[in-house]
Amino acid sequence: MKTKLLLLATCFVWLTTEAKTPKSGLISPQTAVYYPETFDAKAHLPSFSLVKELPVTANVPESRTLRPHFSTRDNKSCATLPIEPGTSLYGTGEVKGSLLRNGKTIKLWNTDNYEYKRDEGKRLYQSHPWVLGVRANGTAFGVMADNSWKQELQLTDSMRFISDGPAFRVIVIEGDSPQSVLKELTRLIGRIEMPPLWAIGYQQSRYSYEPDSRVREVASEFRNRKIPCDVIWFDIDYMDKFKIFTFDKSKFPDPKATNNYLHSKGFKGIWMIDPGVKLEEGYNVYDSGTAGNHWVKDSLGRDYVGKVWPGDCKFPDFTRPETQLWWGGLYKDFMNQNIDGVWNDMNEPAVFDGPDATMPESNMHRGGGDLQPGSHLRYHNVYGMLMIKSSLAGIKKVNPGKRPFILSRSGFLGSHRYGATWTGDNVASVEHLKMSIPMVLNLGLSGQSFSGPDIGGFINNTTPELFGQWIALGAFYPFSRGHACKDTNDKEPWAFGTEVENAARKALNRRYRLMPYFYTLFHEAATTGMPVMRPVFFADTRDTSLRSEDQAFLLGENLLVVPRWATNTRLPKGDWHSISVDGKNDLSDNYQPDVKLRAGAVVPVGKLIQNTTEYKTDSLTLYVSTDATGKAGGTLYEDAGDGYGYQKGDYAISSFAATSTGDKLVVNITQTAGKRVLKAKTFQVKWITADGTLTGKWVKSNTVTLSKKR
Ligand code: GLC
Repeated sequence: MKTKLLLLATCFVWLTTEAKTPKSGLISPQTAVYYPETFDAKAHLPSFSLVKELPVTANVPESRTLRPHFSTRDNKSCATLPIEPGTSLYGTGEVKGSLLRNGKTIKLWNTDNYEYKRDEGKRLYQSHPWVLGVRANGTAFGVMADNSWKQELQLTDSMRFISDGPAFRVIVIEGDSPQSVLKELTRLIGRIEMPPLWAIGYQQSRYSYEPDSRVREVASEFRNRKIPCDVIWFDIDYMDKFKIFTFDKSKFPDPKATNNYLHSKGFKGIWMIDPGVKLEEGYNVYDSGTAGNHWVKDSLGRDYVGKVWPGDCKFPDFTRPETQLWWGGLYKDFMNQNIDGVWNDMNEPAVFDGPDATMPESNMHRGGGDLQPGSHLRYHNVYGMLMIKSSLAGIKKVNPGKRPFILSRSGFLGSHRYGATWTGDNVASVEHLKMSIPMVLNLGLSGQSFSGPDIGGFINNTTPELFGQWIALGAFYPFSRGHACKDTNDKEPWAFGTEVENAARKALNRRYRLMPYFYTLFHEAATTGMPVMRPVFFADTRDTSLRSEDQAFLLGENLLVVPRWATNTRLPKGDWHSISVDGKNDLSDNYQPDVKLRAGAVVPVGKLIQNTTEYKTDSLTLYVSTDATGKAGGTLYEDAGDGYGYQKGDYAISSFAATSTGDKLVVNITQTAGKRVLKAKTFQVKWITADGTLTGKWVKSNTVTLSKKR
C-alpha cells in the first residue's frame, strides 16, 4: 500500500512538473536562462550547443534588464531583445559581409551556397544562433537561442530570433568585457580540442588532384622548392564513382602506399568523406546501411533518395545512436590506410535535386537515446554536426592514441567541439579575399577558433596578384589551406611565376617561424575559448573607433596583422612595432602583411622548418617590446604535438618576463606549469624599440641580458 501511494505521489509530481514551464533563472553568476510559457522540452532538449544541462540556482536579479520577450507571429515563435544605442553586434557564426553585424538579417538554415549567392548569402553552410554584443562602455553580453529549428535572426531595430519551430529558450550572458562573455560562452558550449601540431601547418588541396602520381608530384614540388607544407588533401577524385569509403583502383591503386609516401616526406594525408551513400546493391556501405535501417526517411516513412556526386544516394540518419555507431565503424578500414585526417563535406546536407538544395523539411529523423523523433525542419541544422560527431567517435576508436583532425563544411553553434571548418565555396575575387577576415573573426566570436577560407579562392581562375595577396594573408588564418575547384587554373604556390612563388615562400616561412606562438594560441583557444584570430577591438574594448575594423586583426593578444592592401585602418592606441620574423625584412615584397608586436609583449619565434615533423623549441628567438613601465611578458606552450599525454601533465608552459632599465634588458624564462621535463634551451633576444631592433647573441641560459651599449 505504502509503495503504491509513493508511486502515485511520484507520478503526480512528475505529471505536474512535466506540464509546468521550467523556471527561468541564473545558471551561473554570468548567465541566465529564460523559458517561454509554452516551452516543450521534448521539442528542444537535449541542447545541441550546451555541453550539459545546468540547473537554475537563483532568480535573475532585477538589475539585469536584457531579457527576451517571447511572442508568436504568423505561426512562428519569436524572441525579441532590445538593442541599447551604441551597442556593437558580432558573432552570428559563419556569415557573409562585415564584422559588425548591426542591421543584418541572417538566416539560420545550413545551405550549400556556391559563390555565397543563394539568398544573397544571408545563409551559408553553418548556423550559429548567437549574438555577441559590446556596449559603448565596453561591457558586453551574449544572447543564444538554444534552438536547432529553422530560424531567422534579425539585428535591425532590435535583436529578434524568429523560428519555424515551437517556442524556444534563450540564454543571456553578461560580462564586463567581450572576452569574459566569450570565455563563459565556451565554458557552456565547450572549446576546441587541442589539434595535432601538424594541423596548424600549411595545407595544400585541389578538387582534381588525380591520379596518385599528381599528388606525389605536388608533394615533391613543395620540398624541392623549399616551400613549407604539412598536408596534402584528397578530394572526391580518389573515390570509385564517388562512393564513399572506396578507392578508384586505377587512379589510386594503393592508398596506404600513397600515405606512406607522403609520410616519408613529412606530409600528412587528409581524405574526403561525404554523407550521401550511393544507392547501389552490392556496394558494402549501402548494403550494411540498408541492413541496419540507417537511412533518413521521407514523410511517408520510405527511405529518402536524393542526388549528390554519385547520383542517387541515401543519407544516414545521424540522430540515431545505432547509425552513429555504424557510421563510426566505417572508418576502421579507411583510417587503416594510414590516413591522418578526414574531410566531411556536403553535410548540410547538400542534395542536388532536393528542394532548396537540401532534403525536404518534412523528411523524418527517428532519433533515439535522448533525442526525440523529429522532422528535418528540426534536425537539418545539426545534420553535419551529428555527422562529424559520429565520424570523430569512429576515428578515435581506430586511433585512440592520436589527436583526430576533421574538417567539416556544415556546422552549428557548438560543432567546434568535433572539428575545424572552412568557409565553403568562395570565389577568387578581391571581395572574397577581404571578406574572409570578418568571416574567420565572427566564427571565432562564436566558439569556432579553427577556421579559414580556401586560400586563392575556390571558384574561377586566380590571378597572380590575387594569389600573392591571399597566400600572404592566408599564412595567418588559424586554418591555412589552399584549395581550388576543378577546371580552374593551377593554384599551387609556384603556379604564378617566380615573384608570387617567392612571396608564398616568404609568407609560409613566417607562419612556420611563428609556430611556437601559433601552437600556444591554439592551446589558449582549447583552454579558455579565446580565438586564435581576434578582432582589433579586443585590444581596447572601450575604444569605440575600433569596433568596425575588419581589415587588420590580432593574432592572440600580442601580434597585430595589417594586410598590405588595407586602407584607413583603425589600429589600437599604444606602441605596436613592426617585426620581421623571416630574415631582415619581411616587407621586401608587396604582398606580406605588416606584423606588429604589442608593447609589453614577448613572442617566441622558432627556426625555419619545412613541416612540423621538424619542429623544435630548443632554439628560440624572443621578440621583446617593453611597455612604458619597462615590462614585457609572454608564454610558450609545449607538448608532444600529438597524443593525449598533455592531459596527464606531459606539457610545459614557460613564461617570459622581460624588464628594461635604461639601456639594459633582462629576460627571465621560467617553467610555470606542466610536468614535461624541458631540456635547456638556447635563446636569442630581439629587443624591438621605436629606434629599431637590437639583436642579442644566442645563449644557453634562462636569463638573457641585452645591453644597448656595446
Ligand atoms: C564542394 C566543396 C569543395 C569540394 C567539392 C568537391 O563544393 O565545398 O571544397 O572541392 O565539393 O568535393
